[in-house]
Amino acid sequence: MTTSSRLHVAIVMDGNGRWAIDRGLPRVAGHRQGAQVVHDIVAAAPGLGVTALTIFAFSTENWKRPPDEVSYILHLFVTMVKKWLPELISRHVRVRVIGDRAALPGDVRGSVETIEERTASCDGLHLNVALNYGGRAEILHAARTFAAACVAGTAVPEDLTEDRFGSFLWLAGEESPDIVVRTGAESRVSNFLLWEMAYAELFFLDVLWPDFTPATLGMIVHKFNSRNRRFGGS
Ligand code: FPP
Repeated sequence: MTTSSRLHVAIVMDGNGRWAIDRGLPRVAGHRQGAQVVHDIVAAAPGLGVTALTIFAFSTENWKRPPDEVSYILHLFVTMVKKWLPELISRHVRVRVIGDRAALPGDVRGSVETIEERTASCDGLHLNVALNYGGRAEILHAARTFAAACVAGTAVPEDLTEDRFGSFLWLAGEESPDIVVRTGAESRVSNFLLWEMAYAELFFLDVLWPDFTPATLGMIVHKFNSRNRRFGGS
């Protein structure tokens, strides 16, 4: 039995397109329903003991999708931030966005800054939204930042520890995920939290993200609590 006062769940939300196509709807209808599920999971998470939630909303590879779909997903974030902000604040949810935000459209970047500023002092659930995020890009960013410190003479290579390296990651300050979930019947990690998921318990589900419910999350937490995590020990 695992007992812990903190519980970080990270989710690859896959299957939106298939959910929509199955219903004869355009793919973007799946993303819209997927966003509603994000809302419901954020509301339910604290009651299930989840203290941090990191969700993969848009990957560095997702730019390869048709421009209309890319624009829809990114602007869905903007629309939802505006709609949900008062509720997020009343639920004490602190929102951070991880990823390379420099490449995001200006209005999306503006929304990211607004939501981070307005929720910065919230002391409830940590909601980390991965937007234009890639695990390798995150590790490269950290390596470059440390290399720059070495060149500037404020660090030396011998100083580098795992903790120090972690402090240069976009997700710095958050404990590593305990649980990584992927929906959509695919058993891949798809460049998500490559450094951080070293000891995470993995759950690959056949359920499509728009069909994911608070009860699904509750089932995962329950199974996690009965797993014996050894972190390399016996
Ligand atoms: C993968 O499904 C899903 C995405 C690339 C986008 C996920 C985004 C959301 C759920 C909306 C997030 C919104 C907020 C407010 C954070 P897919 O399109 O690859 O599905 P498929 O594998 O069935 O084609």
